[in-house]
Amino acid sequence: MTARQQPKNLWLGRWGFILAATGSAVGLGNIWKFPYMTGEYGGGAFVLVYLACILAVGIPVMMIEIGLGRRGRGSPIDAIRRVARESGRGGLWSLLGWMAMLCGFMILSFYVVVAGWSFSYLWKTVSGGLVGSEVGDMAAIFAANNADPWALGGWSTLVTLITLTIVGKGVQQGIEKSVSWMMPGMVIMLAIMIGYAMLSGGFGDGVDFLFSFEIGKLTSEGLLAAMGHAFFTLSLASGAILTYGSYLPDNASIARTTFTVAIADTLVALMAGLAIFPVIFANGMDPAAGPGLLFMSLPLAFQAMPFGSVFMAIFFVMLSMAALTSAISMIEATVAWLNESKGISRIKATCGAGIVLWLLSTLAMLSFNLGADWTIAGKHAFDWLDYLTSRFMMPLGGLGMALLAGFVLRHEIFRSELGLSNTQHALWLFMVRYVSPLGIMLVFIDSLGLMDL
Ligand code: PFF
Ligand code: NA
Repeated sequence: MTARQQPKNLWLGRWGFILAATGSAVGLGNIWKFPYMTGEYGGGAFVLVYLACILAVGIPVMMIEIGLGRRGRGSPIDAIRRVARESGRGGLWSLLGWMAMLCGFMILSFYVVVAGWSFSYLWKTVSGGLVGSEVGDMAAIFAANNADPWALGGWSTLVTLITLTIVGKGVQQGIEKSVSWMMPGMVIMLAIMIGYAMLSGGFGDGVDFLFSFEIGKLTSEGLLAAMGHAFFTLSLASGAILTYGSYLPDNASIARTTFTVAIADTLVALMAGLAIFPVIFANGMDPAAGPGLLFMSLPLAFQAMPFGSVFMAIFFVMLSMAALTSAISMIEATVAWLNESKGISRIKATCGAGIVLWLLSTLAMLSFNLGADWTIAGKHAFDWLDYLTSRFMMPLGGLGMALLAGFVLRHEIFRSELGLSNTQHALWLFMVRYVSPLGIMLVFIDSLGLMDL
């Protein structure tokens, strides 16, 4: 019926894709990045724009990516090239796949550093290192945690090794098997944490901060950040979702899975905000503390609560798992490409990609200690990797995919991949052709200062 390729790998279980894709989406972006960005960009105004970006851009683009992956049955580069060829278009479109693959790789190189923070705080918790610390100590503890390159590098190396071990075992035996116990585990731990947070009281200020919309607080900078974060949090334009989509069975519904993943991701981000901001305000801390926010505020709150250490340990186990199920998805595109297209065995591909990853992540890690002075235009390697990927590569990649699906590819391709009703399809096409590209471009242009919104 369709011109779909024969897949090399497929998810084994009915839940394989959903678990893996939700595992990819739900991660540090939700629990670490979303709260601190909301803090920096002024609360509710940022949240509202972010939600609009998820709806208008994130969801339509996710459907494109899964569709491209399943149709082309390959890594981003190969899948996009095949689907473009099928429409009589040149291989130049596969540059989009290159950018996505590179983007996932770059994100992973700073992501393992943050995941390393989570592991090291878990260790601090179980070894009693945080007992008795007070508000004023938290910043110093966080600074000390980052000051020693051997310790910090050790933790990020550990994260890298775990990630590579899972990916090296393959799509079914590695990725699918690990998400099939980590994801249910995370849900249970999250439920426990929410119950515990409710007992702690004091939601008022936090809720206000997250949901009270002050238009005056909305800046161009915040707009672009919200757009970038919508891509980041849904794992878009970085090869992950497209590659996972390439293992999706023929009969699975792309629209339904997309909504499931996007809703789960949004709920976790909002819940993380609700868990963190009440604590910040209750202790007179600064919501705009930046990347250290999560690691300074939460431990403090737990200190003051009954059985705090137990729940803090549960929290950091959950955060570490969330990070791992995302990390594996970021390197899968590269490994799949080396394996399928270059004929390199999965193990060798994983090792090779792993070495390059380790070098780049070490550079990111050194931003916090030895390389404190190594900045370009005021930004460290860590900040640059984050900035380039979220502000440029992901929005540009998303724009490219929207244009590809909306105007370049034969209509029949997405008609059969998405399998939507006529009205639904028309709506999707309208979003992909006009709303998503214009949204992305407006945000870009505004941020370049060419226009006054
Ligand atoms: N979506 C992940 C998060 O929110 O933490 C981050 C991420 C995963 C980005 C995979 C990109 C990616 F390819
Ligand atoms: Na996310």
